Order: sequence, then structure tokens, then C-alpha cells
Amino acid sequence: MSTTIKINQAAHHVGQDVALTGWVQKRADKGKLQFITLRDGSGAMQCVVFKKNLPEEQFDAARHITLESAVRISGGLRAEPRAPGGYELDATAFEVISRAADPYPLAPKRDGGEHGTDFLLNHRHLWLRDPRQIAILRIRATLIKAIRDWLDGHGFTLVDTPIITPAAAEGTTNLFATKYFDEPAYLAQTGQLYSEATIGAFGRVYCFGPTFRAEKSDTRRHAMEFWMVEPEMAFTELDENMEVIEQFVSYCIQTVLAQRADDLAVLGRDLTHLQNVVPPFPRIHYDDAVKLLHANGYPDFPWGEDFGAPHEDAISAQFDKPVFVHHYPRAVKAFYMQPDPERPETVLACDLIAPEGYGEIVGGSQRMHDYQVLLDAIDAHKLPREAYEWYLDLRQYGSQPHSGFGMGLERVLMWLGGLPHIREALPFPRLYRRYYP
Ligand code: 4AD
Ligand code: MG
Repeated sequence: MSTTIKINQAAHHVGQDVALTGWVQKRADKGKLQFITLRDGSGAMQCVVFKKNLPEEQFDAARHITLESAVRISGGLRAEPRAPGGYELDATAFEVISRAADPYPLAPKRDGGEHGTDFLLNHRHLWLRDPRQIAILRIRATLIKAIRDWLDGHGFTLVDTPIITPAAAEGTTNLFATKYFDEPAYLAQTGQLYSEATIGAFGRVYCFGPTFRAEKSDTRRHAMEFWMVEPEMAFTELDENMEVIEQFVSYCIQTVLAQRADDLAVLGRDLTHLQNVVPPFPRIHYDDAVKLLHANGYPDFPWGEDFGAPHEDAISAQFDKPVFVHHYPRAVKAFYMQPDPERPETVLACDLIAPEGYGEIVGGSQRMHDYQVLLDAIDAHKLPREAYEWYLDLRQYGSQPHSGFGMGLERVLMWLGGLPHIREALPFPRLYRRYYP
């Protein structure tokens, strides 16, 4: 029996007899010639099944094979410059491992039309096999590795934070409530507060995991469950935070560009916008962002309000790189942000807004390090003080100015891949009113 190889290893096996195992992605019936494109997870290859090269019953099986059947095809491998991928297999054996039911729900429609979004999402377990979806999720995996590599290489220690939490950390309006036996509990909106504890042991840390927000709105940028990487740094103020963010984001983008050009091409992404994502990024004060809005379509935007998606888009349209907006009004930001000593109605916050209308990809800030300031903020936000005793404790034992940020993995992936909606950025997206499959 020939050795089974992965399709992406074809270059090492030209001229040999090999076997491929995979799923039938495409087929064309030309009578005595059957063309079958096989996908094996590493790539796809066209297999030429010629009647005279196989036992009759195997040729018949190939001729009647259904889309997405699992099969093993063996034969001679040759270079074929005209074939997609550059290689072809001349089949001498065809074995059906599991014949797929017919028709395959996601088969191209006969009328050439496209499957609807709901239909695709209901079949996400199969839709994932689509070349576009495969490309997106491969880019996602590379992005995750780039994130970890940069942080691991810059003195950050990965310290995981809990998912079940006793209190809110990022606003109280979008909490997923659950029960911890008989007590109320919530799914984590962020790991940040816990990372503020672990910096006391490690100096620089990050957590990277799923986060949960019950966002009762159906936007293209919001998922209920998304992945966020959150670095946190002791003895670090706002300016240094922004320097770290721009280095980190640039590395992630450039690494994906270098390693996943093939998959970005499948998505048809125009890479010119991504190539100039290198430090430094422009930085504008919230005051100036408001002026910029006044001059660009929002003459009545009031100082003091948070930006919505249209405002972010109007701001980012003025720049060809991600842009920092810093010093937001205190009233629109989370309770833990450090007020600017010069202008306490603003906080030492920085959001990074992606170009091309992909919105906020990073939210960060310097945190309150003074016990009394934090206690007052907890009371002002009517948060239950008992639940934050441990967080307040951190301000009693070796407190220092510290900063950090959270980067939304799917937001960055949308931007990288040019994806119109966050639903394609997660393998099994949890969207407003949808958590099947
Ligand atoms: O701005 P956010 O809410 O910041 C925090 O949670 C801080 N605790 C982070 C920190 O300083 N450690 O969220 C951070 C990022 C956003 O910029 C966005 O990229 C992403 O998380 N994000 C979402 N992504 C998808 N769906 C949602 N519903 C998201 N909400 C936030
Ligand atoms: Mg934010």
C-alpha cells in the first residue's frame, strides 16, 4: 500500500506512488475521465480518475461519488503547472471510506445563487469546510500565535484569569448572569482586574481567553463571546502603554502578512492598507477627535459623549494607519480608569481605532492606583464594595501607576481579512439571539 501523504507535502513526493485521504470538494464528470478535487485539511489537489487505470468497480464508485464523501485515492503524483496548487494525482485506486448523503446542503446552488446568511449559520458545522472559512480560521490561528510570541518575547508572563466571577468589571449593563450554586455569579467580561493582581507577582502579564458580553444588539462588530488578549504592566503610564500597543499590533499584522499571504489571497484582501501598519501610529486627544468630527459630517457632536461606530469610522477615515484617541471623558469609561490630574473630567485612556472602518480594536488605560480614589469610584458607580475588597487591597500593598489594554481578537481578524461581519471570525459564533450550533 502506498504511503499516505498530506497534500501540502506534495513537492517532496513527485514521481512517487502515494495515497491521499480527504473529502471530495469538487467533481467533474467527463465520461471516462473523472476529475475529483480532494481536500485533506492541509490543501486541495485535483485527482484524475481515468477509467482504464482502475478496476471497474472502483471507477464506478468514483463516478458516482457524492460531494464531501470521505475517500482514499492512490496513484502517481506529478507536477502540473496548470493545476491549482501545482500538482495532480493520477488515480490507480479509489476507496470510499464514508459516502456522504446527497445532496450536500452547502453544494453550490444550481441557479448560481448564494446561500442565505441564516442558512449558512445554521450549517456552521459544515460551512467551516468552505475555502474562505478555512482561510479565515487559519489566519486566526496564526494571529493567535503572533500575539503569544510577541508577548512571550517581551517579558510578559501568561497568567490565566477566571471565567466565573462574583462581580462586574466592565459595566453592569451587559453581564451574563449565572449561578454559583446558590450565589449570583457572572461570566467574565474581562480578566483585567485579576491581571492587576498578578502584576504584583510578575510585573508584566497577559491573559488571553474567551470573554462574555450580553450585547443586546445585532451589529457586525459585536459577538456575545469573543476572545480578548489583555496585557497588564506594572510601573507603566499612558504614553508607554500606547508605545507597547503600537509595537504589538504592528508585529501581529506584519507577521500574519508574511505567513498567511496565501490565505489572504483567498479572501481577496488588498494588502496595501496593511503593509504600512508600522509604528508610530497617530495619536489624537479626545478634544481633537471631537473637532475632527465637527469638521467631517458631525457638526453637532457634543463633547462628553462616547463614539459610536459611525463616529469611529469618520475619525479613522482621516488616517491610513490605526489611530489612538486618548483622554476620553471620565463619564463614558470604566470605573477603574485613572483621571488625568490636570483635567480630572478626563481619564488616561487610549482606544485604538482601525483604519478602513473596522472600528475599535484595542481599549486601554492607566488604572487608579490610589486607594481612596478607587474606593470613591466604586461607590460612585454603586458597585458592591465587598466584592471589590481584594481589588482595593492591591492599592494597600505596593501600589504603583500601572496600565494595560485589551485587544479583541475577532476585531483584528475582521480588519486583517477584510471581513464584513464578525460572524465569520469565530469558528462557532455566539451572536445576538443565536447560539446554535
Ligand atoms: O474596550 P473593552 O471593553 O476593554 C476592556 O474590556 C478592558 N478591560 C481591556 C483592558 O484594558 N484590559 O474591550 C477591549 C476590546 C475592544 O477594543 C474590542 O476590540 C473588543 O475587546 N470587544 C469586542 N469584540 C467583539 N465583540 C464584542 N462584543 C466586544 N466588546 C469588546
Ligand atoms: Mg472599549
